[in-house]
Amino acid sequence: MKVVHSIEELRDQLRGQLRVAFVPTMGNLHAAHLSLMRLARQHGDPVVASIFVNRLQFGPNEDFDRYPRTLMDDIQKLEGERDVYVLFAPDERELYPEPQNFRIQPGDSLGQILEGAFRPDFFMGVSTVVLKLFSCVQPRVAVFGKKDYQQLMVVRAMCRQFQLPVEILAHETVRDPDGLALSSRNRYLSPEERTEAPTLYGLLQQVRDTVRQGQRDLPVIEAHVMQTLSSRGWDPDYVAVRRQRDLQPPKPDELDTGEPLVVLAAARLGATRLIDNLEFDVLR
Ligand code: PAF
Repeated sequence: MKVVHSIEELRDQLRGQLRVAFVPTMGNLHAAHLSLMRLARQHGDPVVASIFVNRLQFGPNEDFDRYPRTLMDDIQKLEGERDVYVLFAPDERELYPEPQNFRIQPGDSLGQILEGAFRPDFFMGVSTVVLKLFSCVQPRVAVFGKKDYQQLMVVRAMCRQFQLPVEILAHETVRDPDGLALSSRNRYLSPEERTEAPTLYGLLQQVRDTVRQGQRDLPVIEAHVMQTLSSRGWDPDYVAVRRQRDLQPPKPDELDTGEPLVVLAAARLGATRLIDNLEFDVLR
């Protein structure tokens, strides 16, 4: 694997390559990232990964400073898997050589709901850096995990609306055996919090089962889960059942016509904010 830090070196390595499969990351790689690399490998050649902790997508009180930066470990993990041809690991001066005045602002109906309501500039920061990375790497396909469900939808919408010639592939959420979705932020959890953390996924499964059993009052179901989380010491931001296609609340009749749904949640456990989601429909 070649590790390159500059856009010029990256372009040298990729000259003439038309089937690049790209996996953007913020590093601190774990099993889910390596699984994204394998999916990329099945859909293109060469595979390019990037590691860049993007300041623009962090709010002023978020964890940008303490976000784990583990480049040497990450390189070892990628080399062990042998799927990745080039790792692009630019520093801030390389990717943001001047103040980023041109920014991608996702529309309110997708960018300002759910995660966007609690992290106002998050999707602006993600869209802007993903467009920059796409412009550096020029991939034919790019892989994103479903754990960041809304991010995946924002990136897809951006590619559609800017006619970017990149196909976005979604990778299923990878979980620990107890159900906790893998995330770099799990390493912030204390041992007690780690024991409690799978509750979030358990409650999403309960929401799915409750809706399938015929309960139709989604706000009541959502409020009940929020209360359960609070009573167990979490600080929940949202629990929401939405349509998969646009993340809007389903209309009452859509619940009985098999509309694909997703229940999404974000909640803080101690100092760690966790997100998760579960796709389902009522008929299955
Ligand atoms: O999901 C992530 O790790 C980041 O949001 C991404 C897509 C690499 C952009 O910084």
